[in-house]
Formats: sequence, structure tokens, C-alpha cells
Amino acid sequence: MFMKKTFVLIGMCLSTIIFTQCAKKATSTKTSATTVDEVAELTKKYSPSQMTEGKAVFVGSCQKCHQLYQPAKFTIKKWKKILPDMSHKAELNANQAGLVRAWVITNAKQS
Ligand code: HEC
Repeated sequence: MFMKKTFVLIGMCLSTIIFTQCAKKATSTKTSATTVDEVAELTKKYSPSQMTEGKAVFVGSCQKCHQLYQPAKFTIKKWKKILPDMSHKAELNANQAGLVRAWVITNAKQS
């Protein structure tokens, strides 16, 4: 009787530990997955030549008022705040802004 209780207790402890470990893992992969997914999606949506075009527009239009800020200087999150305003400042059309965005986001600093 005593042994049985001990086993049940140990079993309960183990499953609690395993459960919390798994839950922790699940949430941490989820946060990084959003950025990874986004990059994967852009890579699928834009061809390599479009990416090159995006880079060309970026180099050509984004150092008229200041030094060229490299994509790796900021995270995706930060770039998303910066880009709409700057694309407007650089007077890019929707297509150019999309190309620049795709290139910058896929080359941004890892979180
Ligand atoms: C018409 C001038 C102008 C053009 C063109 C321009 N910028 Fe800017 N940019 C600014 C000014 C002014 C600031 C600083 C003040 C501000 O943040 O608005 C700035 C700041 C920035 C910053 C720094 C933001 C920070 O928080 O440190 C980044 C990054 C940037 N620009 C990227 C770009 C990119 C990418 C492009 C091309 C799509 C671009 N800029 C085109 C005027 C311009």
C-alpha cells in the first residue's frame, strides 16, 4: 500500500515536470516561429531577382537624406515601424516599397 502511494506520487511529480517543460518549449518556439514564418513567406512570395531589385531600390533611394542604415542594424519589429514612414519619405511607389520591405525584412537582425 505504501509503495503504491509512493509510485503514484512520483508519477504525478514526473508528469507535472514533463508537462511544464513541454508547455515552456511550445511557447518559446511559437514566438520565434512568427519571425521565421514571415521571412519564409516573403522568400516564397518574392523571387531572388525581385529581392535584388528591392536591394537596388534600397541602395538607390535610402541614402539621400542620411547614411544607409543596413537591414541587419534593426530587428524586423523595428523595421516595420520605420519602413512605412521612410518609404513615403523616399517617395517609393507601392511596388517599390514592397520590394524594399521584402529585402530588408528578410535580411533584418535576428530578434
Ligand atoms: C527625404 C529624406 C529621407 C529619405 C529619402 C529616407 N529617409 Fe530615413 N530618415 C530621414 C530622417 C529625417 C530620419 C530621422 C528622423 C526620423 O526618424 O524621422 C530618418 C531616419 C531613418 C532611420 C533611423 C530610425 C531610427 O529609429 O534610428 C532609418 C533606419 C531610416 N531612416 C531608413 C530609411 C530607409 C530604409 C529609407 C528608404 C526607403 C529612407 N530611410 C529614406 C529621412 C529620410
